[in-house]
Amino acid sequence: MPQPTLRLDDEQINFYRENGYLVIDQLTEPDEVLRIREVYDRLFEARVGRETGDQFDLAGDDEEGKTAKLPQILNPSKYAPELKDTLAWANARVVMEQLLGGELSGQGDHAILKPARYGSPTPWHQDEAYWDPGYDHFSLSVWMPLQDVDAASGCMHFVPGSHRMEVAPHRPIGNDPRVHGLEVDADLDLSGAVAAPLRAGGCTIHHQRTLHYAPANHTDVPRRAWIMMGSREGRKRNVPHDYYWQKLWQTARSERAASAGG
Ligand code: NI
Repeated sequence: MPQPTLRLDDEQINFYRENGYLVIDQLTEPDEVLRIREVYDRLFEARVGRETGDQFDLAGDDEEGKTAKLPQILNPSKYAPELKDTLAWANARVVMEQLLGGELSGQGDHAILKPARYGSPTPWHQDEAYWDPGYDHFSLSVWMPLQDVDAASGCMHFVPGSHRMEVAPHRPIGNDPRVHGLEVDADLDLSGAVAAPLRAGGCTIHHQRTLHYAPANHTDVPRRAWIMMGSREGRKRNVPHDYYWQKLWQTARSERAASAGG
């Protein structure tokens, strides 16, 4: 198990607290990025997790046999445990603990692939809009590209300071209940948004309420992003949030998950 090599300084921690996101030039070494990339491509090619609802099209209706617009795998490290035995995983853990102010109670991951030339945009959203409205969550995400990424290939964009907002109304992308992906359904001021281009193996970190977006991939290279999430124990709310849009979901993914027993 690699030992962590990274620690944030006060300036970085303060930047995150102020803005709700942070850019780190290098989370791991270039040779490890290549190793992770091989695992990543194998998982998508083998369509792991398809029958249990862990692999699905985040932006389309996810019908069998259709080309996915935005293929996603939940918990790729469940299918390839070697992903946890990486410097990226160890460094992400340290950094998330620094920003959450204590030990993580959970560390998970997912993978979002934007295929070359047609991977569709990930519309503006806040991650907490997907989560259990019965809890206060203490969580953040580390987003690491496995190749260089810029606005043309789908790098992350953030609205600085938006982590202090409540969760805005959301809806399934395109208002289609068969789509699992969510988009903000409110007239928000996005004029201050900033792009975060990165080298392979760098990362961005964002708070569960930070508004973020990634454009389509217009390049000839697939845009592979591996996202690690960390959290501290959630707190049950007396009055749940009203994340009503979650009741609209009627996805093929949830049907597959239900018939697989969870
Ligand atoms: Ni997100």
